[in-house]
Amino acid sequence: MEVEVAVIPAAGRGTRMRPATRALPKAMLPIVDRPAVQWVVEEAARAGATEVFIVVDPGVGELIERHFNSQDEGPLPGLGHVSVHAIIQDVPRGLGDAVRTASNHVGGRPFFTLLVDNLVYPDGDVLPEMASAAHGKSVVCLRELGTEYLARYGFIVPGDWPDERVVEVLGAIEKPGVEAAPSKLGLIGRYLFTSSVFDALGDVEPGVGGEIQLTDAINAVGEAGSCLGYVAAADLLDSGTPSGYLEASTILGAAHPDFGARYRAFLTEFTEGL
Ligand code: G1P
Repeated sequence: MEVEVAVIPAAGRGTRMRPATRALPKAMLPIVDRPAVQWVVEEAARAGATEVFIVVDPGVGELIERHFNSQDEGPLPGLGHVSVHAIIQDVPRGLGDAVRTASNHVGGRPFFTLLVDNLVYPDGDVLPEMASAAHGKSVVCLRELGTEYLARYGFIVPGDWPDERVVEVLGAIEKPGVEAAPSKLGLIGRYLFTSSVFDALGDVEPGVGGEIQLTDAINAVGEAGSCLGYVAAADLLDSGTPSGYLEASTILGAAHPDFGARYRAFLTEFTEGL
C-alpha cells in the first residue's frame, strides 16, 4: 500500500518529563541535534510520506511552523519535498481525539500515525513493512512487552497468524493492567490506518483517564475484521520518560554520521572510568 500522509499527535502536557516540559512542548525537546518531533517526521518521509500533519496544543503551532517552514532559514535539510503543517487540538481530549482532528486534511487516504514518545533505532524502520503487510487493512505495530508495560501501553486481542510477523487484531484494550491483559502484544506507537478509523473514532466514548483513546478505535476496527498487527523485529526507544530520553539520546547520538564516532570514543572512556 502506498501511503503519502502522516499524522503525528504531539499535543499533551508531557507530565512524565517535568520540569523540562513546564514551558517547552515535549515534542520540541532536543534529542541529539534536532527536536524529538523531527526524528519522526524524517522517519515518515523515509517511508514515502509527502504530507505530514503535526497535531499540537494551542500556542505550539507557530513553533512547529517556524521550525519546519522558516522563511529566514529556508527548508530543513534532508526533508526533500515533504510538506509539514501544524493542526491545533483546541482542548486536550486524548490521543484518539488528536488523530481525529486531522481527518479533514487526510480525507479518505490511508495514513501513518507516529507517536513522538517512541523513536526507532538507527536502521530500525518499521513503516515500510507495515505498508507491505496491509492489503487494504489498518496495521498496528506490536512488540511482545514485559509485565511492567501492561498498565502503561495498549494491548491487542490476537487472532490467527497469516504470517510469522503478522497477526489478526480482534480487539484492543488501553492500559489493561495484569488482570485484564488480553496478550503481551503491546502497541508501540506506529500505526497505518485506513480512513475507517475516523468513523470508529467518531463513535468512541471517553475511556481510560476520561480521554478519547486511539486504542478504543483500534478495538472497533479490529472487531470489524479490518485490522492487522505487525510484530516489529526490534524494540522502539521510549523517549517519553527521563531515563528513556537519556537512552534515546545516547543511542541516536552514538549513531550520528557526523559526531557519532567521537561520542562513542567518549562513552568508552567514560564507562571505563565508572
Ligand atoms: C499511548 C497509547 C498506548 C500506546 C503508547 C505507546 O499511551 O495510548 O496505547 O501503547 O502510547 O507509547 P500514552 O503514552 O499516551 O499513555
